[in-house]
Amino acid sequence: MNTDFLPLNGTDFIEFYCGNAKQSAYFYMSQFGFEMVAYSGPETGVRDRASYVLQQGKIRLVLSTGLTSEHAINEHVKKHGDGVKVLALWVDDARKSYEETTSRGAKSYLEPTVLSDEHGEVVMSGIHTYGETVHVFVERKNYSGVFLPGYQPRKSPMEVTPVGLLHVDHCVGNVGWGEMNTWVEFYEKVMGFSLLLTFDDKDISTEYSALMSKVVSNGNGYVKFPINEPAEGKKKSQIEEYIQFYEGSGCQHIAVATHDIIHTVGEMRKRGVEFLYVPETYYEDILDRVGDIKEDIEKLKALNILIDRDEEGYLLQIFTKPVEDRPTVFYEIIQRMGAKSFGKGNFKALFESIEREQELRGNL
Ligand code: FE2
Repeated sequence: MNTDFLPLNGTDFIEFYCGNAKQSAYFYMSQFGFEMVAYSGPETGVRDRASYVLQQGKIRLVLSTGLTSEHAINEHVKKHGDGVKVLALWVDDARKSYEETTSRGAKSYLEPTVLSDEHGEVVMSGIHTYGETVHVFVERKNYSGVFLPGYQPRKSPMEVTPVGLLHVDHCVGNVGWGEMNTWVEFYEKVMGFSLLLTFDDKDISTEYSALMSKVVSNGNGYVKFPINEPAEGKKKSQIEEYIQFYEGSGCQHIAVATHDIIHTVGEMRKRGVEFLYVPETYYEDILDRVGDIKEDIEKLKALNILIDRDEEGYLLQIFTKPVEDRPTVFYEIIQRMGAKSFGKGNFKALFESIEREQELRGNL
């Protein structure tokens, strides 16, 4: 029997490098219902950057900005705009995670490093993945502090009500032409993931554009990474638009789970989050396609939530517009009602919706 050489407990945190972390923090608090829990910066003895830690359910976002033009964070922001730098994974042994992956060919980002303070110690290590994105392994079993050594607890003076976001469901990477299989192999060989699903350009194409996608998952299924690459179409694929504006491969969207998408999306809309739009015709034959669902279809329609079914159940999902001015990173809100898939039945409607936005930006 194969043993999992890289056991993962889940996503530990997602770190964005941003132009102005202080203001980004308020975006996620006011629109997405995240609470500020920790901070690291000049006031905590860190001289070169500021980082805000936001939490909702088990989801932890870290927003970081460098304090000088030559800081590596700001180099990253100059090239990519605000974007995901670190997809951190929670492990029991960060040294072993590093050895197992680097010995299988991963490029080192951070050698095993022990950080400590009065709350104990954390071991961190890291490897490179697609583009300039990295995976950091976080071992925190001997730590009881709010986040990591170097961070202090911080509450915002603004009162925040959560919207019901629970945990990270999956994080999607966009890679360049012909690079999807290289990265799928990386996750298989270097990280011990297995291929869960494949979508070719026939599954994911509209009149104008196409993409291909493969989904890899770790052993226990807690960590899933779909990888997209552009495919030939009459016009520019949304993946190409992303790569053009991100100036390379990177994280395209983060899917976050909720148990009550009607409540979550209703709250997010009230707070000003902009979502992709699918036309009313989408709902005309939807129940014939997906069968019985528990939710009131009129409520789903009013919120423009999409529905899909697989052999194991159904799912409800919706996608935000990009959350920065470059048409790059966006979020998916997903409620799984047994379904383990990714909404294949919605791809066409969704991509047509993305193309309407691309057209408005002059990028189709
Ligand atoms: Fe997704």
